[in-house]
Amino acid sequence: MTTGTPLGELRIDIDRLQQRLADLAAIGAIEGTEGCARLALTDEDKEGRDLVVAQMRDLGLQVTIDGIGNAVGVMAGQTDGPPVMTGSHIDTVRTGGRYDGNLGVLAGLEVIETLKSAGVTPKRPLAVAFFTDEEGARFPPDMLGSLVFVGGMPLEEALEIEGIDGPTVGAELTRIGYDGSAPLPAAPPHAFVELHIEQGPVLEVEGITIGAVTGVQGISWQEVTVTGQSNHAGTTPMGMRRDPGYVAAACASFVRDLVLDIGDPQVGTIGRVEFHPNLVNVVPASATFTVDLRNTDETVLQESERRFADFLAKTAEAEGCSVETRELARFEPVIFDPAVVDIVEQGAKDLGHTVLRMPSGAGHDAQMLARVCPTAMVFTQSKNGLSHNPLEYTAPADLEAGANVLLQTMITLSEA
Ligand code: GLV
Ligand code: MN
Ligand code: MN
Repeated sequence: MTTGTPLGELRIDIDRLQQRLADLAAIGAIEGTEGCARLALTDEDKEGRDLVVAQMRDLGLQVTIDGIGNAVGVMAGQTDGPPVMTGSHIDTVRTGGRYDGNLGVLAGLEVIETLKSAGVTPKRPLAVAFFTDEEGARFPPDMLGSLVFVGGMPLEEALEIEGIDGPTVGAELTRIGYDGSAPLPAAPPHAFVELHIEQGPVLEVEGITIGAVTGVQGISWQEVTVTGQSNHAGTTPMGMRRDPGYVAAACASFVRDLVLDIGDPQVGTIGRVEFHPNLVNVVPASATFTVDLRNTDETVLQESERRFADFLAKTAEAEGCSVETRELARFEPVIFDPAVVDIVEQGAKDLGHTVLRMPSGAGHDAQMLARVCPTAMVFTQSKNGLSHNPLEYTAPADLEAGANVLLQTMITLSEA
């Protein structure tokens, strides 16, 4: 129901959206850049949460916080029942940009404000959520909050996860006051749609404004610890070394060769390496590193895992080192609901935008929500394909286009 403007002609206010992005980016701002550092459940994350929850309340949303710290703000509809939900995350990596995740949450608020300003009460309730620890950079796995939200991990197990700096999820949630009581797993929404920057180069290179996201590639994260014999760097002959540093370096090099051999869309990254004791003149006692492997094809992803495991075992054995591996995250590829993808695609076309159906290379909360309700995503361009970098940038016209596609998609899902 609407007063005045037909629903199809409603448009978001880009200045208001930009202001919200700037206000949130001011928290944990990385000096001299446009980026921010708000690792999950840190003081900066708490400050960002407080701001967004206050904005939800200012818009008259009914806000609930659950036991893993996910926040959901609901706008009542003409009917009761499960809401059409949007949202994303407001935690960032340590060297994050201001758009990754934040855009999806703040554009959701902008959708609500647009509807409120136009005097619209949607048929179904609408909800905007931010999910805890989407990045997984401090507390693996990624998408932790949305995983627990949909019942993919028991809350008790999630609360026990230790961060890379020591404390557990549970302790940090309590410390920042976001250990809420809304029930988990949550009741499934009617549908879920997430706006996100692409975080890759495809849309920009193709000169296309909107991505209608068809799914998310599978993700495999593991932590490898290689243990050898710490010794003097000057006196230990090469043939007598048991050097975990060498094994780690060989693995890093192998991952590059492996993914090139498999070919696109396989990707592989060694993102974190720690040597102990990490000194110039000491053969390391141990090396710990992470391996991130991704592919849209589960069979090929498994092949990449197997080939890496074989190389690791062989190389460590030849060097006289022992190996321990720990799974940090493992999610199979996800295919979104074609009907919701169609709505996104048609919404973009109706607004006069070029649109491409495409898979996502990054992990997203939407891939968890897809387990419990019809789900899809909207992508906007990322300048130079940069993300997880303070240089991350999306032009205002693209933000506006994406947020309007989100608005129209939510209207369609709510009114249908
Ligand atoms: C999470 O956002 C990831 O894709 O690494
Ligand atoms: Mn993200
Ligand atoms: Mn991210």
